[in-house]
Amino acid sequence: MNSNETESKTKNKNTNVPSQEIQDFYNKALFYAAAAHKKQFYAGDLPYIVHVCMVADEVFSADRIEPFSNIKDAVQIALLHDVLEDTPITKEEMLLHFSPEVVHGVDLLTKKDGLPLLEYFKGIKDGGRDGSAIKMCDRIINLQKPPAHWNADKIFEYYEESLVILEVFGGSSDYISSRLKLKIELYEEMFMRK
Ligand code: NI
Repeated sequence: MNSNETESKTKNKNTNVPSQEIQDFYNKALFYAAAAHKKQFYAGDLPYIVHVCMVADEVFSADRIEPFSNIKDAVQIALLHDVLEDTPITKEEMLLHFSPEVVHGVDLLTKKDGLPLLEYFKGIKDGGRDGSAIKMCDRIINLQKPPAHWNADKIFEYYEESLVILEVFGGSSDYISSRLKLKIELYEEMFMRK
């Protein structure tokens, strides 16, 4: 057995998926998301794909400390989590490329027009621990400097919504919820005490 074979037989600790297979799924989802969001921006004038890569990195980092139940799916869901919400791509189109579990996970994270926020959160929570943890990772990344056009009320609303996210989903991961709690405190300190 040469070293490449040894490497390819390395199993992920919690899903029994060869680690290189996760990289291939990561890259496939990354390409798809990058194409889907190619005309969108994040935090001013950065390509939108920066946001989803940051969320996926939160997921990978957390998985080393508190393993997701299915990291292969979780990282794809993280990369694809805004595709249905922010682009014209449909579930049916995504199903041509990704597993029903991944598309379902993305669908749960997609805010539907007219759906009350707490019902949206309940749908994610009922979908299981991994989706709940990804929702917290998304908020960790989004608790950055508010857009310039937000007024104090909007900033406060976002802060309060973040506290609800922590309360609703916190039980899914001690590690991720502690990071979210810290980011909420920093947000308050930096952008609300003025
Ligand atoms: Ni997002």
